[in-house]
Amino acid sequence: MRLFDHAVARALPVVPRSIVGRVAAPYIAGATLEDARRVVSELNANGMSATVDVLGEEITHPESAETIAAAYHEALAAISTDGLDANVSVKLTALGLHVDPELCRALLTEVLRDASARKIFVRIDMEDSSTTDATLELYRSLREDGQDGVGIVLQAALRRTLGDIEALSDLRPSVRLCKGIYVEPSAIAFQEREVIRKSFVACLDALVDAGCRVAVATHDEWLLGQTLDRIPRLEAAGYELQMLLGVRVQRGRELVAAGHPLRIYVPYGQQWYEYSLRRLQENPGVAGHVAKDMLGRLVPGR
Ligand code: FDA
Repeated sequence: MRLFDHAVARALPVVPRSIVGRVAAPYIAGATLEDARRVVSELNANGMSATVDVLGEEITHPESAETIAAAYHEALAAISTDGLDANVSVKLTALGLHVDPELCRALLTEVLRDASARKIFVRIDMEDSSTTDATLELYRSLREDGQDGVGIVLQAALRRTLGDIEALSDLRPSVRLCKGIYVEPSAIAFQEREVIRKSFVACLDALVDAGCRVAVATHDEWLLGQTLDRIPRLEAAGYELQMLLGVRVQRGRELVAAGHPLRIYVPYGQQWYEYSLRRLQENPGVAGHVAKDMLGRLVPGR
């Protein structure tokens, strides 16, 4: 199966933009804020909350970071104006983490002020391992400065994550727990599916024990089962389930019908093409999921 995934990922740059667009369409709200508003309001009407993500990451000029920050202010204003049940997720590299860390902090602080005035929560996405320390340090420093409406993401695939949970426990952080989408070396990350699953469950238990609010972000049925088995404890700490737009949509509906809070991650923006291509190439496993999903849509009953 890995061969299939790598073959799909390698073929992507020669695939015409219009086809990448069709492949990416279920997973991205569209190019504009209007697209995101429409998709979020449909999700809300179906009993799901949303996280809005402005596409853009690893910028090379400070002006691009300012453009992304401005798009977040527009998204926050739209969420308030439309009364949407949504929060936002930001990527620190899109706000200039690698270009100018001070600018990144200043732009994020402004986004947090705006969001807090509108009572909207902000989650800092976790990117590849070159950003983990800087992300956790910035998170701690923001919390110590009194910013409370902000949360982080921890990746079960990283060997360090249980230690990070312990180190952060004094802050009782709000954590989105996911497997981790980036391909990392075995020196720092678990590689086998079963080991990552075990780590995910251990991290989930550690977060609940530390009294943290947890957002369990997975489409993995086995992990969903482990999560549902823990609902009484999770309810006490505060929990929600999270999924990506367009992924396991029917399962998401069933979870909502069973009374679980479900939040859908809604990416939008002009950079949808670059984003889709990079995500698919960075992790051939994702390219494989998408290609199989496409085949499923094209060949009903497959
Ligand atoms: P797994 O990969 O085993 O997927 C289970 C099943 O779901 C697959 O068999 C397939 O059917 C389906 N599936 C999963 N992903 C799919 C896709 N992209 N397209 C089509 N089908 C798919 N990572 C990170 O490093 N930093 C972050 O900040 C975030 N943020 C984040 C937010 C939210 C709301 C979610 C749901 C996920 C993330 N992730 C993330 C991504 C996460 O780390 C992980 O890579 C994916 O969720 C896939 O892992 P699963 O646990 O879903 O299992």
